[in-house]
Amino acid sequence: MSKQQLILGLNEDLAAELGTIIRYNYQAAKAFGMVGVGLRQMFRSELQDELLHAAFLADVIVDLGGEPTTTPKEFAKPEELKAMLELDLEMELHDVENYRRRAEQADAIGKVELKLKLEEMAADEAGHARELRRLLKGLPFVAE
Ligand SMILES: [Fe+2]
Ligand SMILES: [Fe+2]
Repeated sequence: MSKQQLILGLNEDLAAELGTIIRYNYQAAKAFGMVGVGLRQMFRSELQDELLHAAFLADVIVDLGGEPTTTPKEFAKPEELKAMLELDLEMELHDVENYRRRAEQADAIGKVELKLKLEEMAADEAGHARELRRLLKGLPFVAE
């Protein structure tokens, strides 16, 4: 693992965060009905965490001598609420794994503080996944 490879990886993470910000903003606007009211709040509150993640990644990339991406990762756009949440859960779990791996890579080149921060971000994403699982559990019992 070189510094250059770490920058590449962090830029993939940044693209994923930018995609998540846009996805949650989009989903908040497309969540309708009684269930949608609660989902809109959740999407907008999690969006704040993702913004902080994106800001941190961009700063770190610059600090390492890289150029932060401004291109978000593409994402699917299911119309149905359950499908939206299932997609989000899958993506959050994916992010948890990504940040764990990135933390190991940062550690491998002696970036201990970065490793700790990336692990903290993995924990944030695990928290988002937990919240989404709770919502999905309740969803079948609510008529749409
Ligand atoms: Fe995030
Ligand atoms: Fe997240």
